[in-house]
Amino acid sequence: MIEQDMRDTIICRCQDISLGEIMEAIDGGITDPEELKRFLHVGMGSCQGRTCGKLVTRILANVTGKSVYEIKQTSQRPPLVSVPMKEILGDNNE
Ligand code: FES
Repeated sequence: MIEQDMRDTIICRCQDISLGEIMEAIDGGITDPEELKRFLHVGMGSCQGRTCGKLVTRILANVTGKSVYEIKQTSQRPPLVSVPMKEILGDNNE
């Protein structure tokens, strides 16, 4: 059981998704990380889940009673690190 004040805790900072929103989705039957990602867009922000991915995995493990190693990892899209625009554009100022 999660205390009411903890439900407002932001788990995914990039997408502004709270623990309460994740728990509502899980209570609604979504326990697959990839489904959770598609439903809430958790882990689809600019960091691609580097910040929230492990938290979501732990939440799913706690709720389902599985080990964190049994929770499937979601796919990630590049870039996994920030790339300054000048590195993409090069020295050409035009
Ligand atoms: S914190 Fe969730 S995608 Fe960045």
